[in-house]
Amino acid sequence: MSTLSFVIRPESPLDEDAIERLHDRAFGPGRYARTAFRLREGGGAATPEFCFSALVGTLLVGSIRLSPVMAGAAPALILGPLTVDPSFENVGIGSALMRRALESATSGGETLVLLVGDEPYYRRFGFARVPDGQLALPGPVNPARFLAAELAPGALAGAKGMVRPRR
Ligand SMILES: CC(C)(COP(=O)(O)OP(=O)(O)OC[C@H]1O[C@@H](n2cnc3c(N)ncnc32)[C@H](O)[C@@H]1OP(=O)(O)O)[C@@H](O)C(=O)NCCC(=O)NCCS
Repeated sequence: MSTLSFVIRPESPLDEDAIERLHDRAFGPGRYARTAFRLREGGGAATPEFCFSALVGTLLVGSIRLSPVMAGAAPALILGPLTVDPSFENVGIGSALMRRALESATSGGETLVLLVGDEPYYRRFGFARVPDGQLALPGPVNPARFLAAELAPGALAGAKGMVRPRR
C-alpha cells in the first residue's frame, strides 16, 4: 500500500457537488434505485454527524454517509454510499472513512449499522449477513449482500421487521 497523505473530516455542505460527481462516476444514474438512496430520500438527509469526506489536498476523493432508520422497533443506521474515487482506490481511504464513521456512530450512542454491499469487503469492519427473513428493506435486495454490524452486543437480535426512515 502506498503512503498517500489524505485527511478525513466531517462532511461540509460545500462538498455536495463533488460528492454527487463521485456517486455519478461510481454508481451512474441508476443509483437512485439503490436501497440506501431510497431510504435517505424517504427520510430526508443523512445525519450530518455521521457523514465524512476524504480529501487529498483540496480534492474530495471519498465520501461516506450514514442515515438513521428504524429496523422494526430498533433504531439503526443505514450505511451508504461509501465511495472512493477510482483513481485513489486501494490506499486505505475506504477503510479510514469506515472506521471514522463507525467510531462516530458508537460515540453518538448508535448500536446497529446496516448496509447492502460486498461481504468480502465489509466483514473486516465487523459486518455479517443479516439472518434471512429477520429484516426487510424497501426494494429488492440480494440477501447475501444485506449486512449488519453490532456496535453494542445483542443489538441485531432486537431488530425485526421492516427497515424504514427514522423521522
Ligand atoms: C469499495 C470501495 C469503497 C473501497 O475503497 P478503497 O479506498 O479502495 O478501500 P481500502 O483501500 O480501504 O481497502 C482496499 C482493500 O479492499 C479490497 N476490496 C475493495 N473492494 C472490494 C470488494 N468489493 N470485495 C472484497 N474486497 C474488496 C481491496 O482488494 C483491498 O484489499 P487489500 O487490503 O487486501 O489490498 C471503493 O472501491 C469504491 O468506492 N467502489 C465503488 C463504489 C462501491 O462499490 N461502494 C461500496 C458499496 S456502497
